[in-house]
This record gives sequence, structure tokens and C-alpha cells, in this order.
Amino acid sequence: MIILGIETSCDETSAAIIEALGNNSKVNLLSNIIATSLSFHTKTGGIIPEVAAREQIKYIIPVINESLTKANLKLSNIDAIAVTIGPGLIGSLLVGVETAKTFSYILQKPIISVNHLFGHMYANFIKDENLENKEIQFPALSLIVSGGHTDLVLIKEHGKIEWLGGTRDDAAGEALDKIGRLLGLTYPAGPLIESLAKKGDSKKYNFPRPLITSNDFDFSFSGLKTAVLRQVNSLPSLTNIDMENICASTQKAIIDILIAKTIKAAKKYSVKSILLGGGVAANQTLKDELKQKINIDLPSVDLFVPNKKFCTDNAAMIATAGFFNQQILPWKKTEANPQLYFD
Ligand code: KG4
Ligand code: ZN
Repeated sequence: MIILGIETSCDETSAAIIEALGNNSKVNLLSNIIATSLSFHTKTGGIIPEVAAREQIKYIIPVINESLTKANLKLSNIDAIAVTIGPGLIGSLLVGVETAKTFSYILQKPIISVNHLFGHMYANFIKDENLENKEIQFPALSLIVSGGHTDLVLIKEHGKIEWLGGTRDDAAGEALDKIGRLLGLTYPAGPLIESLAKKGDSKKYNFPRPLITSNDFDFSFSGLKTAVLRQVNSLPSLTNIDMENICASTQKAIIDILIAKTIKAAKKYSVKSILLGGGVAANQTLKDELKQKINIDLPSVDLFVPNKKFCTDNAAMIATAGFFNQQILPWKKTEANPQLYFD
């Protein structure tokens, strides 16, 4: 089955083509094209929805054309179209959804509605020659850590999931971006904080780790942001060393919380695999520390982390999630839903 995936939930415009063989194997990626309006948002310190939507309109057709050319296919070779219907920015989402509906009508091919958050989980099901490519065993636990979300989800089998908990306020990536902003770093701050943290002392500041021992699988990161602000304000000036230490201590606090909750959920639900996903999963320290903790506490559990390019937003993960969760509606009933979450 050949699927064209379309992702336009935020500032990335992406189209990808996958070839899926069966429910038990990972999918083959034939092309994955991404255009981004990030440079506009770096200047303003955050995403301006109107600007993101305008750029989506400019990029969408060229990006789809390029995905077909790169895969050496024609539109007539496509069996189905998978599109992100939410969550995300309404203006951006509409560009992808309306384009997918048009193609579905013209080509008379089914359209699969995809939850963007499922996309982040299913980035782990893309075949990648650079990774081990072990088979993912169920039940699996997925930790989604992105700019907009922090969620723990139990995947019992394809199409059968249970949401265990999520953030009550800021997402992990959002906390990093907001802390970066108060440190004067450009948007998105996650990668910059990671590189500054490498030179800093993660024990220098003992920032709070909200809800780390709570009996649920919820997260809270807004108190951490306030604690960092208080620390910055108490310093006579912000030297390079201060910056490095604050970044290292902030990153450590976030990673400690993410790992504690993930390990707790993995034990409670006796999972066989842990799947990371979302932009923050690109963080090498998070991956290394989680791997270390799993090796000690849960040696029979396998950790899966997508290649860095599939952690941040892309259409390959949307096409893949669409294949394994075929929610097919007539094109007339397919609609963008910016508030979509887990039911
Ligand atoms: O998944 P994503 O591309 O977009 C959303 O769906 O939100 O995630 C973007 C988030 C941003 O908050 C960014 O700061 C964070 O991922 N991020 C990182 C790293 N790379 C991106 N956070 C920590 N370390 C990184 N290396
Ligand atoms: Zn995302």
C-alpha cells in the first residue's frame, strides 16, 4: 500500500510517501520533504499563526510535487492520503486538510484522518537503516515530548491505546523555549539549551521537579520556569558560565521528571517496549539517561527512539500513523480539529 502523508499542523509543511507491506513490519520510507517557516518565527521569538498559515499555502503544492518526484511516483500510484487533522494551529491545519480533501476527490482515493500525536508515537515504526530495527513488542509505552505536548500513552496494540497522563500546564519543549527566551536565546531554545548544558554543571542549581513523586502520570513544568526566572533575577549579571549552569540544571530537572514518570508507568503496565517521540526526543542527554535507567531497572524492555529528523514534525510519521490506524472518513466529513487530543 502506497500512502501520501501530509503534515501542516504548525510551522512545517511536509509531504511524504511510504510503502507499507503488512501490520507486523515497519514501513519503507520513499520520500519525506519538509519546508519550514521557522526563520520568520526565530525573529519574533515564537510562532505567529497567521504567518505560519500564509507560508503553508506557499509551500504545500511544491512540497507534495517534490515528494512524488523523489519517490519516482505519480499521483495515480497513491493508494490513500493520510493527513494531520489536529491538534495544531487552525490556519495551518486547514491548508493540509483542504489539500488532502481535494486530492481525495480528484483521485477517488480514501483519506485517512491522523492525530498529530499518534504521528509522534508512530515515528518509531519507520524503517531506518541507521537504527537496529528491532521489532516493537506490545504493550508499549509512548512518551511524547514536544513543543505543545507531554503525554504518556499505553499502546496495547495498533489502534488500541490508553492515555495515562499529560502536562497540566506547559509542555516540556514549551518550558525549554520559555526558559530560553528569558535567557535571551532564540526560538526554539531546546537545541541551544542542550548544547550550552554540555559545558555546565547540572548540580549547580537545584531547580524544582514538580509532581515527580505524585501517584499519577501527570506533569507540570510552569513552576520550573518561575524558579529559573527567580534565579536569573538574583544574579548580579548573567555570565556565560551562569548560562551554561542554568541550562544544565534546567535540562536535568526536566529529564529527571520525564524519566521518573516513564519508568513508573513502564513498571505498572509491564510494558515490553518504550517509544520516545516529539521534538524533545532529539535531546541526546534524555536518550542516554533514559537508556541507562532502563538497563538498570527494566533490562528486558527495549527503548526505541526515532532518528532525529523524525522526532520533529514531518509527514513520514503521519503517513505511518495513518497506515496502522486507518480512520477513513468520506472526504466531505474530514475536518480539521485544532483541539484534538486523546479520547
Ligand atoms: O515535535 P516538535 O517539532 O513540534 C511540536 O509538535 O511541538 O517539537 C518542537 C520542540 C521545541 O519546543 C524545541 O525546543 C524542542 O522540540 N527541541 C528540543 C531539541 N530539539 C527540539 N528540546 C531539547 N533538546 C533538543 N535537542
Ligand atoms: Zn509535533
